Amino acid sequence: MTKKNQTREPAIRFDLASIQREWDIASDAYADAQMSGVDYYRLNFFGPAMVEACGNVKDLEVLDLGCGIGYFSRQMARNGASKVVGIDISPNQLAHARQIEEKERLSIEYIEGDAASVIESLPEASLDLVTACVSLIDMPDPGRVIRGAHRLLRNRGRLVFTNTHPVTDTMYREWVRDADGKKIGLEIGDYFDETPLTLTWMNDRYKYPFQTTGNSYTLQTWMRWIIQSGFILEDFIEPYATDEAIAQHPGLDDTRIVPTFLIIVARKDVRITSPTG
Ligand SMILES: C[S@@+](CC[C@H](N)C(=O)[O-])C[C@H]1O[C@@H](n2cnc3c(N)ncnc32)[C@H](O)[C@@H]1O
Repeated sequence: MTKKNQTREPAIRFDLASIQREWDIASDAYADAQMSGVDYYRLNFFGPAMVEACGNVKDLEVLDLGCGIGYFSRQMARNGASKVVGIDISPNQLAHARQIEEKERLSIEYIEGDAASVIESLPEASLDLVTACVSLIDMPDPGRVIRGAHRLLRNRGRLVFTNTHPVTDTMYREWVRDADGKKIGLEIGDYFDETPLTLTWMNDRYKYPFQTTGNSYTLQTWMRWIIQSGFILEDFIEPYATDEAIAQHPGLDDTRIVPTFLIIVARKDVRITSPTG
């Protein structure tokens, strides 16, 4: 019998106060896994894929939503963005981000608050790139955030985000294994159930178990939010680990069985037409 890394059940609460509390509690374990390098899913797989999806960010003004301890904000600053602002609802996550900023001095500004409300309070058409690295999935109203990002972006600006893949990150989800216990497939169910899920993380990579709650929307819902906000879908990426990453961390071989993450690149493109057309 293989030990489970995670359990999932329908959430009892999923509001700004409960989200903040869960992430405040999770924060030390979450930060420790990233900073010690054991969070290899992020460091060797979806993180680099997300950086690549953002392309050339030199001199861009970037807002990183649900920035946590600042992992992705730092990637953008190191890659030459002229301004990086990270927003997060959890003071404890931001305390880690600010501590790292004290040492690394990348000129990242961190704001505490709900991403949906903060972006609605910022001036229209004032930024080039809005990013969200595995965070929209943890917010109660991603559709509102996506609409807010469209308003906030300058023309030709982009929203780039990654989440666990909506088709495979479902309420019912069990790996199918061969006689040696090796993963060979994934059984999924309850795909159309959009009830928020509470995950209990019991992975050895974390120094204590913790719970976080996230939404579970269908791919159709995500696509409609993007299209109805006025974005053009520029890229749709289902990353999987490279041979080198799997050689270093064999556990990443399950990323080749089914898509585990989805990266979306959406562009604001407001064409100005003359009154005569
Ligand atoms: C899975 S973590 C990702 C953090 C970071 N982007 C990273 O890649 O490590 C999700 C983050 O979203 C934040 N979050 C959840 N709901 C939020 C909201 N409504 N507004 C701002 N941040 C939120 C949580 O506090 C948490 O830090």
